[in-house]
Amino acid sequence: MNAPFPLGGRVAGPRLAELLGDWRRNGSRQGAGDLAAAVRLCVLDGRLLPGTRLPAEREVAESLGVSRTLIGSALDRLRSEGLVASRQGAGSWITAPEAEAFEPAGADLDLIDLTRAAPPAVPGLLGAMDAARSTLTPELLDTGYLVRGLPILRERIARRYTERGLPTDPDQIVVTGGAQNAFAIVLRALTSPGDRVLLEQPCYPNTPEAIRAASILPVVVAVDPEVGWDVTGIEAALRQAGPRLAYFVVDFHNPTGLRMPVEQREHLAAVLANTRTLAVVDETVAELGLEEDGEPVPPLAAFAGDWAITIGSAAKSHWGGLRLGWLRASEELVGRIVSARHSLDLGSPVFEQLVLAELLAADHILSRRRAVIRPRRDALVAAVREHCPEWTFRIPEGGLSLWCKLPEPMSTRLSVAAVNHGVRIVPGARFGVHGGLERWLRLPYTQEADRLDEAVRRLGLAASALRPAPRVTESTVT
Ligand SMILES: Cc1ncc(COP(=O)(O)O)c(C=O)c1O
Repeated sequence: MNAPFPLGGRVAGPRLAELLGDWRRNGSRQGAGDLAAAVRLCVLDGRLLPGTRLPAEREVAESLGVSRTLIGSALDRLRSEGLVASRQGAGSWITAPEAEAFEPAGADLDLIDLTRAAPPAVPGLLGAMDAARSTLTPELLDTGYLVRGLPILRERIARRYTERGLPTDPDQIVVTGGAQNAFAIVLRALTSPGDRVLLEQPCYPNTPEAIRAASILPVVVAVDPEVGWDVTGIEAALRQAGPRLAYFVVDFHNPTGLRMPVEQREHLAAVLANTRTLAVVDETVAELGLEEDGEPVPPLAAFAGDWAITIGSAAKSHWGGLRLGWLRASEELVGRIVSARHSLDLGSPVFEQLVLAELLAADHILSRRRAVIRPRRDALVAAVREHCPEWTFRIPEGGLSLWCKLPEPMSTRLSVAAVNHGVRIVPGARFGVHGGLERWLRLPYTQEADRLDEAVRRLGLAASALRPAPRVTESTVT
């Protein structure tokens, strides 16, 4: 549906520049076309929402360091595509894209969407729904408002932690509407506008979005995709900035796939205690380890105790459509968190919780999930080696995506070009708290192997069309 007038917030010039990333082809004289393509990509992957008001042309020109004429002609293109609307006095704003505006130029190509690192539902889901239906009747006699979650589900989640080496009481668990909702609830309970939160870079993009929405300032520490975490650097940042919370994904980090080794967990736990910092540990894909003989690694909270609030999710292990996750914290913190939750939501749907309780009772579901994903990871690795041999990566021991290093900074341009080759990808810049990461690209391996191979083949074509042809000098002309 098109937004007939600006309904949303306003994006500031510097933020727009961050969102657009490295949009300009070196030496290009097609600047307006590149800029329009980069805006189109931001709309396509949800970074610029319909109704968002754009800054004045002068401000955009200043923030991007280009002429007003170029901005004017990029806006003309976007208006003619129906992506931007303008009115005197109201300025310009994003309108909802018409579906056909995003049809790949390669006419009959079906679009392969690699923007989400999320698999479809586990096969046992329908059976779990049938079983849940037979346990629903007693719940119907109650109100259905369960701000901490259904007791049987909290018991099963607690048991999973205990089995993973982190003894847990069901009273330490709160069921939420997914990990993202769990993070929002924690922010609501424990932070105030103007506070700081330490984040990793690269980072799962919705985390910095959530902290910005709560008017919290990010303090960023780098995670090196080849080396991992720098706990000494994290300690220095904690001492210097004194953030209210620190957010970590130490199990198959999204997007790098890294897993923090046990000795580093011990070190980080000691740092958290010494600096008195509460950590939010996002374990969304922690149970998707793909190495069959991999040593079990206890959760960070097993070392950090009450300094860790762990958040988890059924989205990747079972199905995103359940919209269920949870958080685990000390009983004292759980009390504070639950009180703060009332201003956000009043609990999660009861039927879905019964379904998840059924699924968690069946141990084989997760091992089958891993057995399906493992060959997909291997197929993606083989496809990148074949079709994009210049791209480099570390093979992740778990999780759902490959973090590829490109031969040159081109991730945003590649994402734009890829649509014309029938593939949607998220550029590396999206995982930068302040943009950047143009040399990186996340490729999820959640789809079937032949589809992944076809997607990477198309990406290889898109990438070679972007690379400048070798210069022909006089000495090479014969
Ligand atoms: C690290 C991380 N946290 C949170 C989420 C969101 O999880 P949910 O769907 O449970 O809200 C994701 C989803 O990809 C993720 O990768």
